[in-house]
Amino acid sequence: MRKKVAIIGAGHVGESTAMYLAEKNICDIVLVDIIEDMPKGKALDLAQAGPIRNYDVSILGSNNFADIKGCDLVVVTSGVARKPGMTREDLSKTNAAIIENVSNEIKKNSPNAMVLMVANPLDIMTYHCWKKLGVDSKLIFGQAGVLDSVRFRTFVGWELGVSAKDVQAMVLGGHGDTMVPLPRYTTVGGVPITELIAPDRIKAISDRTRNGGGEIVKLLKSGSAYYAPAAATVDMVDAVINDHKRIMPCSAYLTGQYGINGLYIGVPVVLGGGGIEKIIELKLDKDELAAIQASAKTYKDMLSEIGY
Ligand code: 2OP
Repeated sequence: MRKKVAIIGAGHVGESTAMYLAEKNICDIVLVDIIEDMPKGKALDLAQAGPIRNYDVSILGSNNFADIKGCDLVVVTSGVARKPGMTREDLSKTNAAIIENVSNEIKKNSPNAMVLMVANPLDIMTYHCWKKLGVDSKLIFGQAGVLDSVRFRTFVGWELGVSAKDVQAMVLGGHGDTMVPLPRYTTVGGVPITELIAPDRIKAISDRTRNGGGEIVKLLKSGSAYYAPAAATVDMVDAVINDHKRIMPCSAYLTGQYGINGLYIGVPVVLGGGGIEKIIELKLDKDELAAIQASAKTYKDMLSEIGY
């Protein structure tokens, strides 16, 4: 039996996730949205691309959460996207209500599924979903670090005129302005970028990474990025579905690691068939540690804004 993955929310991120995931040919896919018939149309269209794009997994579009029954993993992309002029608090409250509803449906229809959260504000929504589901925190995790890191990798590749595929990067902390790119842990063909790129350029690349989502929101005028977010999401789905035990930065629940307790935030983990199988504690220097703790503080405050 093939594994089954549901994608909740068939907007740009959801549909792109379904497309990249279908092309991996690793699991059956259920695409759910509350907009009448729309996910059915997208699923049908995707299925018809299969013979040419070389996949034959089942892709079901649905308006009915009952169809997520028996899923191994549920990817949650629903929620409003950032628009210019919208406060973070607005986004947090609107999406908290949506995520609460989605979490209740997951609990009702697929209680044993792991959850990969993609909705923003990412670390807050991951925590919220985990609280609503009341399951082991290893099973609920958020996508963000892979996206932020792949943006960093892209900019480093451009800076050095080399393939970004050969750049490994670590961006930790929350998925927002306070995220923490770690140049010491970012390497090109195994060499740390601190040996290859001048400090002022590293700073410029780090700043661009921190504003990476905002840069795209500004260019699109309405809505936010979806190709790279979807690609990052599918990389994580693949790690879970195929039990790859990849080392990836993910939003994970911390219980004292990095001096942070009782919060979801981006840290390196081993991601595999059991979800977050291990949290990796890097040896951070004083400034790096202070930066990740400052990031955590912002999210603690945001959690209290939605009643935690
Ligand atoms: C981003 O950073 C939408 O959070 C997503 O582009």
